[in-house]
Amino acid sequence: MKKTSIQTAICILLLFPVSLTEIHGQLPLIQNYINREPRTLNGKWHYIVDPYEIGYYDYRYTPYDQNPKPQDRAYFMNAKPKDKSDRVEYDFDKSPTLLVPRDWNSQQEKLFYYEGTIWYKHSFDHVSKQPGNRLFLYIGATNYRADVYLNGKKLGYHKGGFTPFNFEITGLVKEKDNFLIVKVDNKRKAEEVPTLNTDWWNYGGITRDVALIETPGIFIIDYFLQLRKSSGDNISGYIVLNGENCQGKTVELSIPELKIKNKYITDKNGRTQVDLKIQNLRLWSPQDPYRYSIIITAGDDQVADQIGFRTIETKGTDILLNGNPVFLRGISIHEENAIRGGRAYSREDAQMLLNWAHDLGCNFVRLAHYPHNENIIRLADEMGIMVWEENPVYWTIQWNNPETFITASNQLKEVISRDKNRAAVIIWSMANETPVSPERLTFLKNLSDTARSMDNTRLISAALEQHSIQGHEMKRTIDDPFAGYVDIISFNEYVGWYDGLPGKCSKIQWEINYDKPVIISELGADALGGMHGDSLTRWSEEYQEYFYRENLSMVSKIPQLRGTTPWILVDFRSPRRTLPDIQDGWNRKGLISETGNKKKAFYTLREFYKEIRTKYGQD
Ligand code: GCU
Repeated sequence: MKKTSIQTAICILLLFPVSLTEIHGQLPLIQNYINREPRTLNGKWHYIVDPYEIGYYDYRYTPYDQNPKPQDRAYFMNAKPKDKSDRVEYDFDKSPTLLVPRDWNSQQEKLFYYEGTIWYKHSFDHVSKQPGNRLFLYIGATNYRADVYLNGKKLGYHKGGFTPFNFEITGLVKEKDNFLIVKVDNKRKAEEVPTLNTDWWNYGGITRDVALIETPGIFIIDYFLQLRKSSGDNISGYIVLNGENCQGKTVELSIPELKIKNKYITDKNGRTQVDLKIQNLRLWSPQDPYRYSIIITAGDDQVADQIGFRTIETKGTDILLNGNPVFLRGISIHEENAIRGGRAYSREDAQMLLNWAHDLGCNFVRLAHYPHNENIIRLADEMGIMVWEENPVYWTIQWNNPETFITASNQLKEVISRDKNRAAVIIWSMANETPVSPERLTFLKNLSDTARSMDNTRLISAALEQHSIQGHEMKRTIDDPFAGYVDIISFNEYVGWYDGLPGKCSKIQWEINYDKPVIISELGADALGGMHGDSLTRWSEEYQEYFYRENLSMVSKIPQLRGTTPWILVDFRSPRRTLPDIQDGWNRKGLISETGNKKKAFYTLREFYKEIRTKYGQD
């Protein structure tokens, strides 16, 4: 008997109930949401801690949201007792609140170590500015998995703690009393990215901005405008419209300062290519982080942005910024405000971190080990600080697991999508300290192919591991097949901390057999701020200072060296660091303590960067 389409649909529903309702955060991401007059939903959100996830699963452990008619027991229904006899065992409005954006760990003592599910609820009213307008929910990041519901309906989910996602909610919003419920689960899992073990605090929560974005029916959902690789005068890219019948629409690109006002017609996908030849373009650089005002108009929609144009490439062992050799005077940074506690998220947090980097004499920062918030990227763009962004493929993940690859590549696509118009971002890093194996090579190669297919204007790298040459403990090298797929050879080394004492550096010889630039993506030693002793007293500022002196002179002998991002700008929280009275839950490799005090080694590195600036004749 021939099945009708309904029967087929039901079969599919029965066969794959999960897939139909499980929409991952929608791509493309709405580009440049910050300049789209977003309506913020930040503030106090009610929350319910749910370690057993009873708000999500019934007692047979079946998810409530797999049922087309979910029961009121499901927390995303935000149910209220219908009468005095009705039994409802949760009530968001009587529950305490947490601030959004913020991690939950630094807001409530009882949540400091909490890993599990917390439900957030926020109510809002909404009146559309214009009939026919569309509405989107934009979330800057939630760690780790978010399941998102509006007025009891599932919008979808998102995995990955450090990248934005958006859902269209046109037609789902009422004028009054909308309830938005986000289930956030930061449990660590072997198959996820990152996996079970890391050396940073697993802050949970809605850690970045939440906003509503209202657009006309057809709007400019995405664009990419950068200088074509190795050309100082050819701006190229694309603009994409979203909506019904986007074909044959006129899009206008205007760069007033350059007297550019060009019209383009979209193809069947609502997309148009852009290719502009510009004489005497003022190029973005640390010395002059110049950004042009860009205005894109399409029908009733218009979006403005500030975009800098620069080229970044390698030539042999040199890194060329706008065609000139550059040394990347960097520092590694975790996304944390150690002084306030918790994940950094605001422009003020970014200002504090980048001001310290600037004081150090940096023109470059490695944002480790995951995409940081957009505020620090945009501020780096304004301040003229070049940026290394990293995908959280950290240590040993499940290389053979297709789901793990999807999760890793989604996060990579999301960060590239968000930051591709920021001149400051010069390097996409695929991973950190991952063990060499054929499966890992395939995984990382596929990731770097994804990155290059989305953006061939930037450089690809990864933080690799060094090791001694067989039988020659003092001879060190990088022998990693993935080095063949990157533009820059970057590696972490801890000679003098995890590997002997600082004095060992002077005996080490580096043999790096690649005609590519080298960046030392990590070198560092722990020191408790204010602890003093002789230079061989571990944990003292003098030891750290000695470590830096020896390491910087050692790595300076590497002929291909074109950058360093020592580990790390500020002490940071880590559950791996338990030594009482010294670590107490902090990784102490910061050059600045968790109270904001600069350690002796801060000045050692600053001196080193002064010499480099003189040598490279930079700012
Ligand atoms: C590793 C790792 C960092 C870690 C650091 C350390 O190399 O990449 O995430 O914090 O070393 O041990 O301090």
